[in-house]
Amino acid sequence: MMHRREWLKRIGIFGTGLILSNSMFGKIVLSQINELEFSKKDFGENFLWGVAAAAYQTEGAWNVDGKGESTWDNFSREPKAIERGENADVAADFYHKFTEDIKMIKSLNFNVFRFSIAWTRILPKGTGEVNQKGLDFYHRVIDACLQEGLEPWITLYHWDLPQVLEAQGGWKNRKIIEWFTNYVDVVTKEFGAKVKNWMVLNEPLSYTGNGYMNGIFAPGEKSLSGFMRAVHHSVLCQAEGGRVIRKNVENANVGTTFVTTYVEPIDSNPKNVAAAKRMDAIMNRLFVEPSLGMGYPEDTVPILKKMRKYFEEGDEQKMAFDFDFIGVQYYFRTVAKKSVMPGMRAKEITAEERGVPRNEMNGEIYPEGLYHRLKAYSQYKGIKNLIVTENGTCVPDVLENGKIHDLERINYFKTHLAAILKAKREGVNVNGYFVWSPTDNFEWNKGFRTRFGLIYVNFETLERHIKDSGFWFQEFLK
Ligand code: BGC
Repeated sequence: MMHRREWLKRIGIFGTGLILSNSMFGKIVLSQINELEFSKKDFGENFLWGVAAAAYQTEGAWNVDGKGESTWDNFSREPKAIERGENADVAADFYHKFTEDIKMIKSLNFNVFRFSIAWTRILPKGTGEVNQKGLDFYHRVIDACLQEGLEPWITLYHWDLPQVLEAQGGWKNRKIIEWFTNYVDVVTKEFGAKVKNWMVLNEPLSYTGNGYMNGIFAPGEKSLSGFMRAVHHSVLCQAEGGRVIRKNVENANVGTTFVTTYVEPIDSNPKNVAAAKRMDAIMNRLFVEPSLGMGYPEDTVPILKKMRKYFEEGDEQKMAFDFDFIGVQYYFRTVAKKSVMPGMRAKEITAEERGVPRNEMNGEIYPEGLYHRLKAYSQYKGIKNLIVTENGTCVPDVLENGKIHDLERINYFKTHLAAILKAKREGVNVNGYFVWSPTDNFEWNKGFRTRFGLIYVNFETLERHIKDSGFWFQEFLK
């Protein structure tokens, strides 16, 4: 790992100054940190400013008030599944501290709080009996948001599948469409009068790829065919879930979210260029294109033709849904080259191997990539509205006398906001920015090692401290 000072040098940060060498951003990014050349106003009056979180990562109270076991409750107990053997049984204890957290979020001047609902609190057995205490909890959370003047944006699925359903094949089992739409039906009927903004899935590529193919997320499987089935069923659930929301919620704003990365080839060698195209098709096109009625990107990645094995009659039409917005979740760039690995036949050259500025998860810090990805999404005719539903970074925060001076995180936000503004000024219809994440939380297989919050959480005492980045937003959004 590069020394921190060296790292700061590489991204051109010395003390309070910021200079990015890439001239693409022109005046915006070539400015000094203390003289930001844009303000909140430049994004327009209706631009949404929010924070985003997820149930498993923050709530804790894993078996409280009738909650059922989720795949992550189960997976985190497997030896070696989580880097330091931690689990989210308590996490940031949002279950008991939500009032304090919601007030803090509001105090930082945000106007949206995006969070997810734990399926296992509502339907502990996945299907069947509804758990009233689970419904009550989310009513309290929603009411607290409304009371503070924070608009609740709800994600229906952020990776914590009921374990009883995983035992029946989870996302690999086509019955998931029935299970999922039933869950969405219960939730949207219950909360639809209070909540208008809904996201069906959080990053389907992440839980299908890491869960069923790479084995590093729940349920920890490594199978190409399992992955393909999980992908196809997720695409169908994404659209069917959208239809259920439309039916149950008057004036709903319906979206879904995709992880995105800007993929570039290592050099101009045509084999590496083609490999980067294949990687881009998997990372960036696999879920959005079928939802737009374009099918899977089989032309670029021929192996995807195998997915047809899992098609039933009418699927092609059922995969499409007219979303009101697409949630864009951007963290880093990916540099690719050809590989003999079957399937994608491309591999990543990591940020560490390339010696470039990176976060604590080895993701390259590359704000221009967000600009490019917004431009790419804006090329699709069927996309009506883009919201950046996640963006953020993990840095080694140090708590000293109740303060956390996370300058690197502040710079990350500034440069990424500059990238969004550049796209917006060029006519891209992007209308919101949600920071990942309000508080530090449980970062999946990394556990508590990597911190993304604007608010520091001491995971022993559960005390919260606003970081400098949180204060930066407070000022910027004033
Ligand atoms: C996920 C979050 C995760 C974040 C940071 C996103 O892919 O939606 O759950 O914590 O990235 O890694």
